[in-house]
Amino acid sequence: MHKRKGGIYTNIYIDIEIYRERKRAKQMETITICNRKGGTGKTVTALNLGASLKAEGYKVLYVDLDSQRNLTRTLTAQESKQNSFSLLVKETEDAKRCIIETPEGDLIPGAEQLASVDRLGIGLDVLKNALTPVKKKYDYIIIDTPAVNSLCVINAFICSNSLIIPVQADLYSLYALEDEYKVIDQIRKKYNRFLKIQGILLTRYQANAKLSKLIKESFEEEAKELGTRLFDTVIRENITIKESLLYCKSVINYKPKSNGAKDYRSFTVEYLKRKGQ
Ligand SMILES: Nc1ncnc2c1ncn2[C@@H]1O[C@H](COP(=O)(O)OP(=O)(O)OP(=O)(O)O)[C@@H](O)[C@H]1O
Ligand SMILES: [Mg+2]
Repeated sequence: MHKRKGGIYTNIYIDIEIYRERKRAKQMETITICNRKGGTGKTVTALNLGASLKAEGYKVLYVDLDSQRNLTRTLTAQESKQNSFSLLVKETEDAKRCIIETPEGDLIPGAEQLASVDRLGIGLDVLKNALTPVKKKYDYIIIDTPAVNSLCVINAFICSNSLIIPVQADLYSLYALEDEYKVIDQIRKKYNRFLKIQGILLTRYQANAKLSKLIKESFEEEAKELGTRLFDTVIRENITIKESLLYCKSVINYKPKSNGAKDYRSFTVEYLKRKGQ
């Protein structure tokens, strides 16, 4: 669009920008990656879903709510006093001031103090309110959560419309899923009727292991009972994923031809199809 200062073209240009912003706000999706069981691939999924969506041309903001801050440490070496903790306890009023630009995308970093949020006590919709002003800039906000049932996670559930639950093919993951669902269901009934479990994602899958196949079938049944589905795509155990983290990158950008990158791209396509895009 040719811009001419103060002229008709400027007005058209501004109108188109406003239209795009409104469209974005309407379609905007906040996705929480959750599982109260540790080490199921939440952070890796958050990172690579975000990288795949970015590669598809979407604008993505990552939010790290985990006091371990693995996502933050992967994306930036920068320490910041304006972070998800300062937002939750309202030390920072403006979420825009928390956003750091990183080579993999925009991030609201986590902080060690997130572990003390439950002791301090915060409102249930603080995150929702804090993120509202920045939502119109992004197509997707992806929230990485800790492996505990905390006020941070409840805040994430209340401000999201989509949930993705990464699980590993083992029995304890199946038990954890049942407990997770009870909390999600309560939140949906009491606070956020728009919250949808988009699906359960099997990670670190070893196709040649008989046990993995057996557990996969159990997850399929369990998912049905919980009113959701297992994603058809599974994320295979892939050493390149571990390697990519050493280089502080998503596997999508580190080695686009690796199985890890292929799996996360297929998963993203399936996710977009499932939500009808
Ligand atoms: N598909 C995969 N193949 C190989 N290694 C993987 C895969 N997915 C994740 N990992 C490795 O498993 C470990 C746990 O993954 P990740 O940190 O994403 O789990 P998490 O659920 O976020 O853990 P936490 O609950 O501690 O936050 C990491 O070291 C990561 O490198
Ligand atoms: Mg994690």
